[in-house]
Amino acid sequence: MEINLDQLQKSAEEELNGAKDAADLERFRVAYLGRKEGKLNAILKSLKDLPESERKVVGPRANALRQYFEQKIEERVRELEPAGLSEGEKRRIDVTAPAKRLPRGHLHPITQLMQKATAIFSSMGFDVASGPEVETEYYNFDALNVPKDHPARDMQDTFWLDVSGLLMRTQTSPVQIRYMEKHKPSFRMIAPGKVFRNEATDATHEAQFYQLEGLMIGKDVSLANLKAILEVFYRNLLDDQKLKIRFRPSYFPFVEPGVETDLTCFKCRGKGCAVCKRTGWIEVMGAGMVHPKVLENAGIDAREWSGFAFGGGLDRIAMIKYEIDDIRLLYNGDLRFLKQF
Ligand code: FA5
Repeated sequence: MEINLDQLQKSAEEELNGAKDAADLERFRVAYLGRKEGKLNAILKSLKDLPESERKVVGPRANALRQYFEQKIEERVRELEPAGLSEGEKRRIDVTAPAKRLPRGHLHPITQLMQKATAIFSSMGFDVASGPEVETEYYNFDALNVPKDHPARDMQDTFWLDVSGLLMRTQTSPVQIRYMEKHKPSFRMIAPGKVFRNEATDATHEAQFYQLEGLMIGKDVSLANLKAILEVFYRNLLDDQKLKIRFRPSYFPFVEPGVETDLTCFKCRGKGCAVCKRTGWIEVMGAGMVHPKVLENAGIDAREWSGFAFGGGLDRIAMIKYEIDDIRLLYNGDLRFLKQF
């Protein structure tokens, strides 16, 4: 009997190791441990017919073998399990497989641009200010030297609110007044923010867009300082150290003299192309020396202090930097577009 058990163990071990799938294992289980025909089970069943001395030796060993093979079968089942699964199921439990990349958002191109602009001006000592989007007529127009019946008020179509005297700010310039009321010169500040205009939209006009306002007041602040500062700003913002800017005379009620600021065209670098309408220049912002009346309105002595202000569209800059040909793409929330930045 001892020898039989040795042989049985040997052949069982070989068969078990040779099992290739769950079906092989089941056949093995029936052949050795099955109630009816299992070879090991047959030995266990015949124990009662053996003389007691033999039963004492064979019994424990056969029982131990049965436990041993039951355990072995379980191990092999676990080993072979994936082979019996579908491709999809195998992938689901493969803990070594690289994780699925989760979709991750990023900042909107205008926000990125605003942060970069803020960082550049901060490095030149500019304070960063903000003001309300719902403004009073006083801060948006009156204090900025735009009288009630002056045609300049029509230059910017206004969203008026039902509450009298309140409007959606049409420009970031009211932040100039709010800042000057609270700070004593000298100072330099920028104010980026959302503005609103009641106008029909097209490829270069939105009803809601972003502006960047700037203001520097001191003793000997000049347009030459403004030009130098704007040149540093645009060169760094657009990563072009050769970029040049120029001023053209213009009119805004809150500055005197007033200028329009142009940049050398990013596309042709000044040679003249379709983007700059063959001029070599692109218009980016309004600016000028702060009108004495505006300083006085905000409580600053215009005989003692002077300075410059500027204000430009951030969307237009984004369009230049990223070569976007329609401003509306920035606001329609199409991820196929936004994912490119
Ligand atoms: C102003 O808003 C003045 N507050 C700028 C200023 C500030 C001048 C300080 C002098 C001193 P203007 O209306 O031109 O100016 O608008 C400024 C810029 O906003 C434009 O150059 C343009 O880049 C952008 N802009 C104007 N309208 C729209 C619009 N509908 N959609 C997108 N950008 C616009």
